[in-house]
Amino acid sequence: MSDPSPPQTHSTPHARSFADLVRMKAHGEKVVMVTAYDAPSARLADRAGVDCILVGDSAAMTMLGHDSTVSITMDEMVMFTRAVVRGAERPLIIADMPYGSLQSSTTVAVANAVRFAREGGAHAVKLEGAGPSLERIEAIVRAGIPVMGHIGLLPQSASLHGGYKPQGRTADHAHRLCEEASALEAAGCFAVVLEAIPAPVSARITDMVRIPTIGIGAGASCDGQVLVWHDLLGLSTGHVPRLVRRYADAGTLIVDALKAYSADVRAGTFPLERHSYEMLAGERERFESDLDAMPGRARPLSLPDS
Ligand code: KIV
Repeated sequence: MSDPSPPQTHSTPHARSFADLVRMKAHGEKVVMVTAYDAPSARLADRAGVDCILVGDSAAMTMLGHDSTVSITMDEMVMFTRAVVRGAERPLIIADMPYGSLQSSTTVAVANAVRFAREGGAHAVKLEGAGPSLERIEAIVRAGIPVMGHIGLLPQSASLHGGYKPQGRTADHAHRLCEEASALEAAGCFAVVLEAIPAPVSARITDMVRIPTIGIGAGASCDGQVLVWHDLLGLSTGHVPRLVRRYADAGTLIVDALKAYSADVRAGTFPLERHSYEMLAGERERFESDLDAMPGRARPLSLPDS
């Protein structure tokens, strides 16, 4: 009897696992992460071969038009997560725990992480900070949900406490970040995001911990990198932070396409005949003779003069 499953080849893409990330760090292979918030974007990220998709609470700004990340709700984050899970098959999908989803108690934090896994279909969650968050992280890991940590610039507290600034620029602060990274590893995180941290500090952290470090504005020594979808593709408006590299100007591409469409509609050059549907054979004649036989029906209305 023949084996019904096709043989696996080296070029067959396989779903990323947490073990892959550990192996990648050990072999010096960089981990690629990008944010995404909907099914079509997730499908494109999957096609491009990214390793991880972060359903970031940056969705508050990129998708919902808020001016900080703190306004997004659990319900909104779960909806974005489900959409991404529907669109992507291969990457690991990590859902960001929004502001307010873990502050009140460890029980609430675990319940919200479980929502992301059960309702959202996420493989893991991400939590900002390493102070009070540590107890929450340990409890979520005990509940069987993998956790990604996040230190350095923490957008949730930055927007509450006066702005987005790089972190760890003094020796004391750099030592504190090293301690936080170790504490996150000890609490059971499978990886940690380092945001807006000077490169020498993230290089030390990356050497020190066994879990992969994923940098954003944290230099090239990190085990991987993450960028926000809209920043990377040129879809964001306003100030572009120093930590971003734009790989496309999709915003201009979209505006140009919409201008061309508007011009065609206004000039009557869209739609053409090939964009319309034919009636079935003989049906047009029957339709028109029916109309002719019904005087007064389906004739153009004569509008009163204005
Ligand atoms: O929400 C987000 O997009 C993030 C990344 C900047 C790491 O947390």
